[in-house]
Amino acid sequence: MAQAPALAAPPRFRGRLPVRRFMRTIRDNSVATYGEEAFEREVIVRKLLWARYLVMNAPAGIEHVLLRNADNYRKSPVARRLLEPALGKGLLTSEGEDWRRQRRIMAPAFDHRSLVSYVPVMAEATQALLARWDRLPDGSTLDIAAEMMRLTLAIIARAMFSTDAEEVGPAVEAAVTRYQFEVRPSILDLLNLPEWLPRAGRRSWRSIFTEVDHLIERMIAREPRSGVQPSDLLSRLIAARDSETGRTMSAQEVRDQVVTIFMAGHETTSLALTWTWYLLAQHAAEEARFHAELETRLSGGDPTFEDVARLDYTRMALQESMRLYPPAHTMSRQALADDEVAGHRVRKGSLILIVPWVVHRHRMLWDRPEVFDPERFTPARSAERPRFAYIPFGGGPRICIGASFAMTEAAIILGMIGRRYRLRLVPGFPVEPVGLITLRPRRGLQMILERR
Ligand code: HEM
Repeated sequence: MAQAPALAAPPRFRGRLPVRRFMRTIRDNSVATYGEEAFEREVIVRKLLWARYLVMNAPAGIEHVLLRNADNYRKSPVARRLLEPALGKGLLTSEGEDWRRQRRIMAPAFDHRSLVSYVPVMAEATQALLARWDRLPDGSTLDIAAEMMRLTLAIIARAMFSTDAEEVGPAVEAAVTRYQFEVRPSILDLLNLPEWLPRAGRRSWRSIFTEVDHLIERMIAREPRSGVQPSDLLSRLIAARDSETGRTMSAQEVRDQVVTIFMAGHETTSLALTWTWYLLAQHAAEEARFHAELETRLSGGDPTFEDVARLDYTRMALQESMRLYPPAHTMSRQALADDEVAGHRVRKGSLILIVPWVVHRHRMLWDRPEVFDPERFTPARSAERPRFAYIPFGGGPRICIGASFAMTEAAIILGMIGRRYRLRLVPGFPVEPVGLITLRPRRGLQMILERR
């Protein structure tokens, strides 16, 4: 068997990191805090002074928390406090009846019919990117992370809000990047201290989104409020009435929902694409299979929904890429009442971490976990695995609402670009995955465009 190339990952260590180094590392790159034992055990307990975290790696335990006993868990205060300054109380951060109402309102924008209607938007935006690339000299170098970010942002803006990203795109992109690099979990949150203790920085985190807020206010103000059939998500949000109370959403609620969809709906997908380009560039045989599939299953024109459904190897490569580099690398929950998870007692208020970065590289769940092998995701081999061993989109009632959107979009983008270009990593470029709110390449991803 050929030697597989070493993939970018933080160095592993045995034992525990000393407290100060742990604190520094968790705020700089949270996935670098997991030592060898995390990838070998079903459960590890992390203690930080008095705070105790259960890191749950057993698929049955993950299924219990996310699905079977999901009512007993809410998003953890750390996660909420990291996200709320930006997202307010949108679908990603709300709980209970509020969340259920929001999910009901949003669901039609993600059903099969809507998804099929987004395909031309996805293809058109990718054509525009290709037209721009085609004007560059062959062999040009680009930051593919930034290119993918801009493309997925244009797509989400047009698909969900019928808005040209030129208007809101740069502000959202700048805010998301700044937010990711400036916002860190507070030590008070990591220590699970009471919510009433003041945390530094909240107000300045909020201000990162001021310009985005103004642009969204303008978008909302332009939208006709009554007498028209809701066509896109924004008009649906404005028109939505609670079936029980008849209440419509306040301007603040609509704003929170729009920012949530903008943020959750482009960055993760762009990272999945970025990591896939990186992996394909490191693996010549797999890359050749990917290109061969595109030759036979895509014409030169815009792909349809049915064309995308036939891109089996492309989809497998994407799934394998989200195994190795899950854009949403960590989920965290807090228990509302005492419970037992995978044989471990969980007290009311305890924190549970579900870490796709660890679960997806776990030695008990995966053969040669550090090796890129899209064949793991043939339907037959996927069926052999416990369902919660692979959780790039989470699971249970809070599963990602945009999972099908993201998979379709990513396959279209990979397919259309891959048919025209081969992307090569700039030799010696330092690739470093860094776990902030999402899993990003620290310095972007400089790649060379080679026309095929
Ligand atoms: C590859 C791309 C994506 C990945 C890896 C991803 C990952 C996730 C994960 C793991 C969750 C669950 C978080 C938790 O349980 O704590 C989630 C939730 C969510 N995602 Fe995604 N996502 C992606 C794309 C999208 C897209 C395209 C959209 C919207 C267009 C979206 C919107 C949301 C929303 C609104 C939620 C909250 C759902 C709820 O709580 O009801 N995501 N996503």
